[in-house]
Amino acid sequence: MGDFERQEALPPTMSKEFWIGDVQAGSHDGEEVELKGWVKRTRGSNKIRFVVLRDSTGTIQCVAKREVIGDEAFEDLKASLIETSLILKGTVNVDERAPGGHELVVSSSEVVGTVNPETPFPITESAMAAADGGETEFLLDNRHLYLRTGRMTNMLKIRSSVFGAIHSYFRNRDFTEYQAPNFVAGAVEGGSTLFEVPYFGKKAYLTQSWQLYAEAAMPALERLYTIAPSFRAEKSRTRRHLTEFWHAEMEVAWASNSEIMSHGEGLVRHIAKTVLDERSDELVSVDRDLELIARYADNPYPRMRYDEAVETLQGMGIDIEWGQDLDYSKEKVLTQDFDVPHFLTHYPKIAKPFYHRVDPDDGKYVLCHDLLAPEGYGEIIGGGERTWSEKEILQRIDEEGVPREPYQFYIDTRTYGGVPHGGFGLGVDRVCSWLSGADHIREVIPFPRDSRRVTP
Ligand code: 4AD
Ligand code: MG
Repeated sequence: MGDFERQEALPPTMSKEFWIGDVQAGSHDGEEVELKGWVKRTRGSNKIRFVVLRDSTGTIQCVAKREVIGDEAFEDLKASLIETSLILKGTVNVDERAPGGHELVVSSSEVVGTVNPETPFPITESAMAAADGGETEFLLDNRHLYLRTGRMTNMLKIRSSVFGAIHSYFRNRDFTEYQAPNFVAGAVEGGSTLFEVPYFGKKAYLTQSWQLYAEAAMPALERLYTIAPSFRAEKSRTRRHLTEFWHAEMEVAWASNSEIMSHGEGLVRHIAKTVLDERSDELVSVDRDLELIARYADNPYPRMRYDEAVETLQGMGIDIEWGQDLDYSKEKVLTQDFDVPHFLTHYPKIAKPFYHRVDPDDGKYVLCHDLLAPEGYGEIIGGGERTWSEKEILQRIDEEGVPREPYQFYIDTRTYGGVPHGGFGLGVDRVCSWLSGADHIREVIPFPRDSRRVTP
């Protein structure tokens, strides 16, 4: 229905008038339509062909008879291999036996783009079966073609709704969308994952986060957000790390750690609700249990201190010392039995970068939080209050042995009317991966980048 409404809003000159999804939804029963799409499957005889045609909205069985469409068109159709593009005209028949309940009785057929029989479409059902929902090197090498499969198409649609939900959450709350540079002079999240790039005889880096430049605009805009790529030279290949990922970040003036957490919870619940409203069919198609998503949308997210998490892990026999950041292996165990996402707050100062504000009640901790997704997915948000006084930021920068020079603009935010503020970053691909129940973060991004792959 959503697709139908969107189609109604399109300009009448749009060169594609009919969508398979609308036909299958019953919008054109008995009508004459022209369908444009690609061959998903084809079979038949010398007299009759059954073509399953797909477009971005669905699939439909189309039946073409030689005696109706003529010898030439019939021979072209018969020679059409998987992923040949076609324009088929005909009448929509309601037929309970046809997949989806509708069938096109073809009156004319035209081939638009052919597929050479010597190089057939490589993403076959057996290649998919061999990958068993995962992603073999073969499928990754052919990523540009794999995008056309039902599974990937569904993932991309879910992903689009996640992006839309992030924008609507912030825009409906008077946040201003704000852009920071991707070439930067200093690290945000520590040097070990910094990508260095030659920059006209100097060195520059690819940004790890929008945050520092957002803090510079915080006194101007007070509530700001972005969705942009961030870069991390992550050598370890895990199910949740990319070298280029999409980062939704926000920054708010005058806000406490607790208020920032409320936004994080509000945002993630809004995303869950949006994908449930907009993409329930796609979620079911990728084998996701909708009740889980409804639970994540409808329930509050508990808050727990870091110390408590460490005790819980130690109680489970996990080898962890106070002061360590939690890596994936630990978060995985911790979140396996969570029923909803949980916040972990008050990490040790020694585990976190300089910008985190030291807890005025106990200097061992910083006023920060991570949001950990259940089912073993782990961290999806990192955020907190910022060190906001000039004195403290200089002290923290010096303590960590960070050079002051590249951060002068950041220090100036404090020098001229500093105020308490905070924000967070949410890993959009991680959220997509969790909400769609993917085994690997690669499954939810069209062209994943990791330490071994920048192609295709
Ligand atoms: O926890 P991180 O490193 O926090 C920051 O970058 C802060 N400067 C954000 C802020 O306060 N504005 O990263 C934030 C989130 C993580 O929780 C995770 O979801 C995601 O970004 N993330 C990654 N996602 C995919 N691949 C990677 N290599 C990621 N590194 C971080
Ligand atoms: Mg983090």
